Amino acid sequence: MPPDDLNTRAANLRQQLARQLAAGGSLRSTEWRAAVEDVPRHEFLRAFYAENLDPGATAWTPISAELVGVGEWLSIAYSDQTLVTQFDGRPLDWSGPKPVSNANPTSSSTLPSLVVSMLEDLDVHDDMTVLELGTGTGYSTALLCHRLGDKNVTSVETDRDVADRARIALASCGYYPRLLTNDGQHGHAGPAPYDRTIATYGVRSVPSAWVEQTRPGGLIVTTLRGWMRSLGLVRLTVDGEGRAEGPFIAAEPHFMIARQQAAPTSMGMIPAPEEGKTRETRFGRELLSMPDSGFLAQIIMPNARHFTMQDDSGTDRTYILDAENESFAVLTDQGDGAWTVRQGGPCALWDDLEEAISLWHAADSPAPTGFGVTVTPGDQRVWLGSPDGPSWALPK
Ligand SMILES: C[S@@+](CC[C@H](N)C(=O)[O-])C[C@H]1O[C@@H](n2cnc3c(N)ncnc32)[C@H](O)[C@@H]1O
Repeated sequence: MPPDDLNTRAANLRQQLARQLAAGGSLRSTEWRAAVEDVPRHEFLRAFYAENLDPGATAWTPISAELVGVGEWLSIAYSDQTLVTQFDGRPLDWSGPKPVSNANPTSSSTLPSLVVSMLEDLDVHDDMTVLELGTGTGYSTALLCHRLGDKNVTSVETDRDVADRARIALASCGYYPRLLTNDGQHGHAGPAPYDRTIATYGVRSVPSAWVEQTRPGGLIVTTLRGWMRSLGLVRLTVDGEGRAEGPFIAAEPHFMIARQQAAPTSMGMIPAPEEGKTRETRFGRELLSMPDSGFLAQIIMPNARHFTMQDDSGTDRTYILDAENESFAVLTDQGDGAWTVRQGGPCALWDDLEEAISLWHAADSPAPTGFGVTVTPGDQRVWLGSPDGPSWALPK
């Protein structure tokens, strides 16, 4: 396709994407609309993997202009999808790309509706400075540069290969923000304090550097997540004395976790049948997977994961194992809606979850947006309803 045709087609696709994002409610301001209409996402996505939407195991298909043709490549690059550019922390080999399955995406261009909705939530104004953590392909960095100017944008990426590719793509579009290759947990003190801080990967708790490097009254927008699931998006206001506070504003984003905080490979030891104390419980394993109670489970058991396995007698048992202190809970379906739990170790994981569920019911069972977070230099807590309400510590 001649370059002029490609540019015209890409510009049309950007207009179409902007209309779609505005109609869906994620794109809400003229400034961010102009950025979506101008920034060429395809320059950040010369080659990538798109998720197969067929039912069955998650798998990804390689996409580039050479593999699928220019028209198809462009239309996928401008679709509202997360497009993966790295698996398992290893550079992709584009000499003979094959479909990928059983792999863990470690870098991507996040779906545009989520990117712009987070940028809208960031509430930037002209001339503000922004610290972005997780440069990835550089697409969201380019949107920030379009809106605020290169000199006001600092972005940190932990993976050297990813960072190098982002730098090249940004320069090819004429954007030269301050780019650092480092663990974003340290932020970047150089031009701090920033007016706004935004992370495009999930963290188990808010790094103190982000609070210290955001100006008093400034905002931090980030996803909190754990080893079982994402908790959601929080927007915190910084007070300048090491404190930041604010609500969960969405339950949904499922960003990849900070590389340095990935769950340990081993889930822990399965407890022997005679270990622990058994009692009846009103709740079954669905508590762990339902959206709201699953959110509470992630808060109450930050170091735990669970799986279900049949024992020698053919009975399904759900094991909840704490990787840190070897506490465990084993749920067994006794039939007719009856369940038992066997618990052991220093923390009674299921007792703690049941207690949190009771408090949550007493507060009329709000969605995750009824919770918030307070960060202080020594402690971080998720609270229910208000900072004075019931609260639980986030992992250090
Ligand atoms: C979802 S992708 C970023 C999407 C990106 N903003 C875009 O528009 O393309 C998340 C990125 O965060 C990076 N990352 C993970 N942990 C990090 C850390 N501790 N510090 C900085 N970057 C990190 C990953 O390597 C990955 O590139």
